[in-house]
Amino acid sequence: MKLNSLVIVTCDDGSVDLAQAELSAVAPAAALLEELSAGVLLYDAGIPFAELAAQWRITPPIFVRHVVPVQAIAPLGGHAGDPAFLARTLPDALPALDVALRFSVQTRILVEVPYKPYDLNTTLAAALAANNGPTLDVRAPQQIVSVACVSLHTWRPDASLMIGGAHVGRGRRLAAFAGLSLAADNLSSWAGGMRRFAREEGQVSRAEFKLLEAFEVFGVELPPRGMALDLGAAPGGWTRVLRQRGQYVTAVDPGELDARLVGDRGIRHLRITAEQYLQDGPDRFDVIVNDMRMDARDSARLMAAFARFLYPHGWALMTLKLPEHDRQPVLDQAFVILRRTYRIAGARQLFHNRSEITVLLSLAQGL
Ligand SMILES: C[S@@+](CC[C@H](N)C(=O)[O-])C[C@H]1O[C@@H](n2cnc3c(N)ncnc32)[C@H](O)[C@@H]1O
Repeated sequence: MKLNSLVIVTCDDGSVDLAQAELSAVAPAAALLEELSAGVLLYDAGIPFAELAAQWRITPPIFVRHVVPVQAIAPLGGHAGDPAFLARTLPDALPALDVALRFSVQTRILVEVPYKPYDLNTTLAAALAANNGPTLDVRAPQQIVSVACVSLHTWRPDASLMIGGAHVGRGRRLAAFAGLSLAADNLSSWAGGMRRFAREEGQVSRAEFKLLEAFEVFGVELPPRGMALDLGAAPGGWTRVLRQRGQYVTAVDPGELDARLVGDRGIRHLRITAEQYLQDGPDRFDVIVNDMRMDARDSARLMAAFARFLYPHGWALMTLKLPEHDRQPVLDQAFVILRRTYRIAGARQLFHNRSEITVLLSLAQGL
């Protein structure tokens, strides 16, 4: 085993099998070494991280949310001295950072220790930036040093892989896994792909975070004063987000909208199903979003039927709910249905998606 093929892959803890299949598709020899925490998996990919990242740049995975290389492993004492120890040892153990690229340190702590990610981030970042090192930029880093503090249960790294040749022996299972990569190669620029948003005053539902995250991940922009259709709108979180961004929203759902949205003249609430609205002859829209709770294939069929009410420059965004079993075949069928009418411009299981994925669609010439 070489250090350049060790990776930490992160996914939703209900999608480990699907993420594993995505890894195996590009790295057939990949071997799971240990599940470090729910949905955080240590693999020997069998190919260098750079090769894996290059493949995923061409065909991004849906379920693997985040991936980082492991290029250095350090034993941890599990005490307050760890951050300083890592700041002393990791800079020389990792590949050299590119001084021309803005960097950040992203730490995940997956074990009980008396320090927080922030402590380690700041201590290590100061050491890396010292002596004319690269510029720290935690908001928009171009290169990231990722650190995971873990407790190993079964896998033990060979002493040759450890900083200073130390052993992580029986009594010392704590280790820090560290790696340097380009932010663009990690699939998400957030530690572990965990994009958190602050709760807002007036927020209607947690579903709002899904839409905010989707806007960011897919880089889509809403047209000024656009006409938006929200299918499965109740209680109105997505409708609220669209309104905040200047859209006029037709909200379709037999369910009620939150009282705070009632009376907003920019919202037309139709208390009918999407199927009924189709029969009524809908208007045309710049944007169609769909978060309906229904079988992914039925939702895809409805979305396909609504395509002719989307302006050619428009785009659509939907969640596809995953069944408990046979998730991949159901997803494949939903994609086949969608591709008859749309181009799939992006598909990801976002941090805020639970048993579902989010898909960005455009008409053939769009986006
Ligand atoms: C997860 S909730 C949507 C949450 C919403 N995006 C928000 O941000 O508040 C799913 C909604 O889909 C609606 N729904 C299910 N089947 C539907 C259908 N055939 N037509 C319209 N809405 C439907 C349900 O009534 C429910 O309100």
